[in-house]
Amino acid sequence: MLHEMKTPFRTMVDVETGTVDRAMFADADIYQLELERIFARAWNFMCHESQIPKAGDFFLSFIGEESVIATRDKKGELQVLLNSCRHRGNAVCRAESGNARSFLCTYHGWTYGLDGQLIGVPGYKDFYHEQLDKSQWGLVKAGKVASYKGFVFATMDPEAPDLEEYLGEVGRMSIDLIAERGDMVIVEGVQKNLIGCNWKLAVDNLFDWYHPQISHASAFMVGMLRGGSKLTPEDHAVLEKARAVGMSRGHRVVFGAYGHAIGGPRGSQEARDARRSMADRIEPIMEDLYRDTPQGRAALGEVGVDTSGHPNIFPNLWVSTGAYQLSLRLPRGPLNTEIWWFSFVPKDASEAKKKEIINSENHVFGAAGLLEQDDGENWDQSTRAMKGVIAQRYPLNFSMGLNKTPVQVIEGVAHVDTNINEHAQLWTYRIWTEWMDADSWATLKANHTKPPAHGDLI
Ligand code: FES
Ligand SMILES: [Fe+2]
Repeated sequence: MLHEMKTPFRTMVDVETGTVDRAMFADADIYQLELERIFARAWNFMCHESQIPKAGDFFLSFIGEESVIATRDKKGELQVLLNSCRHRGNAVCRAESGNARSFLCTYHGWTYGLDGQLIGVPGYKDFYHEQLDKSQWGLVKAGKVASYKGFVFATMDPEAPDLEEYLGEVGRMSIDLIAERGDMVIVEGVQKNLIGCNWKLAVDNLFDWYHPQISHASAFMVGMLRGGSKLTPEDHAVLEKARAVGMSRGHRVVFGAYGHAIGGPRGSQEARDARRSMADRIEPIMEDLYRDTPQGRAALGEVGVDTSGHPNIFPNLWVSTGAYQLSLRLPRGPLNTEIWWFSFVPKDASEAKKKEIINSENHVFGAAGLLEQDDGENWDQSTRAMKGVIAQRYPLNFSMGLNKTPVQVIEGVAHVDTNINEHAQLWTYRIWTEWMDADSWATLKANHTKPPAHGDLI
């Protein structure tokens, strides 16, 4: 019934006026179709290669709501396998990570190799009379598995474009913004917690630089977001000035194909130089250093070098460039999202430094993070209200700064430099409708909106 009302999905987002239909955040049928048309089709982030370095290492991840095993087979090849026995569906792997020689189903004992092949069936001779074709009953394998600079992704759909093509300039830049900082190692364990919100609201928020002064007022009050406690008032004045020189239009939004986007502050040479000049009082963070190396510049390109905002790799991977973290927003029904935080530390940092980074990350995001607690409350309340039959008669407003700024395309990367705006969110929802309207990768490839052209008003 609802589908009849809402389809084609492109009617749910009006890019001219900046309105978005609330049903997409609460409707159960729409959610079910998202699992099919977005999560079962897209490249989903699995883990970092350093989490599964050796043959037999595995890490349990998710594609939508479905558990998958990211592992390395005996040849060292990455494999992503649906964690569901082909006999009665039981999970064949229950540990979140570890090392295994095979996956034994705890129900009746079917056993699968690291490449998913069915290799052992109790009673194969006596009960099955050797008539079960084991080659046909292996674990369901991902359509494609690939790694970009150590970041492992999988898609269940073999028709998906290859990972690098899927990521495009903007998706690759998003990962480069963390991968190019130098060698990093993952911190063991992933922080996981459940927030009562639709997964898209958590994505929407990572682009949102309108909310911090209100939502995070208490964090500002206690000085949490001021950074660099050793900085003097003079230092702050220098930083402010540098920021003003480099950032008359201080907010940059970058638009990628298939829904990838980056939104947030624009960096500048002036601001980086100013921070470097006070290296004894502020951490000479790798965030600054790598951008001006020849390798960093080459990887990030002209647009990326001065992009300091937050990327989202569609659908649900936030590369948290302010720190060394990645966050997955895993759907758990239309009204719940499981938030995962992966943290990294620079490989060569001292133990004390690594501890400090982890400590500060734990206090920002994750279950104990001040900011995430502020944000989660808002997403929870938004989602509750979004369910309302009355509320759903009225769209949400994404009109901030709309149709005012000409797009620039430099080195093939479409972006705008302007004031705080909601362009990245609107772009995400616009492309979301195209994923939802497309019945296959072929249709999506043919019909998706390309990033805007130079001079387009956005
Ligand atoms: S459910 Fe796995 S062996 Fe029966
Ligand atoms: Fe926030």
